Amino acid sequence: MIFIEKEIQTAAYLFASILFILSLGGLSSQESAKRSVFYGIIGMAIAILATVLGKGVEGHVYIIGGISVAAIIGTLLARKVEMTSMPQLVAILHSFVGLAAVLVGFGSYLDPATHKLSSTEHTIHLVEVFIGVFIGAITFTGSIIAWGKLEGKVRSKPLLYPGRHAVNIILVLASIGLGVMFSMAEGTSGMIYLYIMTAIACFIGVMLVMAIGGADMPVVVSMLNSYSGWAASAAGFMLGNDLLIVTGALVGSSGAILSIIMCEAMNRSFFSVILGGFGAVAATGEATAMEGEVTSLNHEEVAELLKEAKSVVIVPGYGMAVAKAQYPIHDMVQTLRKAGKMVRFAIHPVAGRLPGHMNVLLAEANVPYDIVLEMDEINAELSDTDVVMVIGANDVVNPGAQDDPSSPIYGMPVIEAWKAEKVIVMKRSMSSGYAGVENPLFYKANTEMLYSDAKESVEKILIFLKKHHS
Ligand code: TAP
Repeated sequence: MIFIEKEIQTAAYLFASILFILSLGGLSSQESAKRSVFYGIIGMAIAILATVLGKGVEGHVYIIGGISVAAIIGTLLARKVEMTSMPQLVAILHSFVGLAAVLVGFGSYLDPATHKLSSTEHTIHLVEVFIGVFIGAITFTGSIIAWGKLEGKVRSKPLLYPGRHAVNIILVLASIGLGVMFSMAEGTSGMIYLYIMTAIACFIGVMLVMAIGGADMPVVVSMLNSYSGWAASAAGFMLGNDLLIVTGALVGSSGAILSIIMCEAMNRSFFSVILGGFGAVAATGEATAMEGEVTSLNHEEVAELLKEAKSVVIVPGYGMAVAKAQYPIHDMVQTLRKAGKMVRFAIHPVAGRLPGHMNVLLAEANVPYDIVLEMDEINAELSDTDVVMVIGANDVVNPGAQDDPSSPIYGMPVIEAWKAEKVIVMKRSMSSGYAGVENPLFYKANTEMLYSDAKESVEKILIFLKKHHS
């Protein structure tokens, strides 16, 4: 086996860190995103090679075996996963990082080398182990619950019980007490405190995410992303691996920044979300009665409306992703633009199930970037718009967010579709969106429903449009 010198390993780590930073930076624009993923892959390959070939590393057969099996599973999973299930995949991958940090912590504590350290170094190392395992365990179970909520296996309504904050505080204090006993324990006898704290942290992880309602899930996913970064960073401290510390800190801080941006976009207090629905009121179960009647149109009538309209705004949502309607939508937009109409897209920051979900899908279908506008850019123009087509979106166009204080999404900025002359809502039924709330938009006098799968609907409308224009 060829081993590399420490200096070469350090240089390789530095180079990999630079590639990771370039990778993160490039992800901020669609044009450079592909290249930046490539930087990330190269950086990770260098990082793994430099670590595995480092002096003192043994058991290469097991390492290569483990990496090969994991690479096959990862490739198969990533190839199979639908775009709509990406958030679940991301959430479950975060749980692996958390679990890895817990196992590294256990291993590092049991490592005889740890107990040969001088007194101060030993205590510092034990603190690293304890904090790393704590963050790792919260990330592990929190991410599993997030996966369950996104997959629809765990109910998305927040689980709020009286006194939960007091319970959480007591559990954190108990963990600190266990930490003190752990750092004073002789030899490896502190393992029992580590186990008890791990169980407590696992429970905190479950309760933190259970307390967060469906509409706040975007923040939870990015927050767990941040936690997984800190867990990796903690593992870096335990292993004395600088690259892991840097990479973990990059993921941790970028995840935290993303969480804050998402909170601002949703008008939520960052701390109330990360503390598990702090200040959230338990739902009374009394839904506000809907006023007005629901009316619907058929595809031909919708095509007729579009033909008469001068300006059209399309609001895509999660349903567009499910139906994979972005391709026919692009065709429809081209047809309408050729007929001289102004057509634009209105993108809500949390539409779909991933940050930037709609932008990715529209870019995939080659929709030009300059007609894809953010919520803040388009809202002021909706009152001058003839037709708003809501395609598979629901929560992001819910007027209750502005005028119903009892709504769980009250306060979240939304796309004000109802201000347009006419609103067409394309979805399969009257069922609610991810947040589980009724949408008064469907009952408004200027709203018409068009019930069916988004892709089918757009394709049928397109046939009628082409007929009219030919
Ligand atoms: P949702 O509120 O989830 O509504 C999507 C709608 O699409 C549903 O009401 C559904 O109605 C319809 N639909 C489903 N399949 C369809 C199909 N094949 N054809 C046509 N319609 C279909 O979506 P949204 O407006 O995009 O809002 C996103 C929600 O997800 C927010 O509550 C947000 O907080 C949450 N969330 C977002 C993220 C991120 S980061 N974006 C992450 C986690 C959670 P029918 O069943 O009647 O068709």
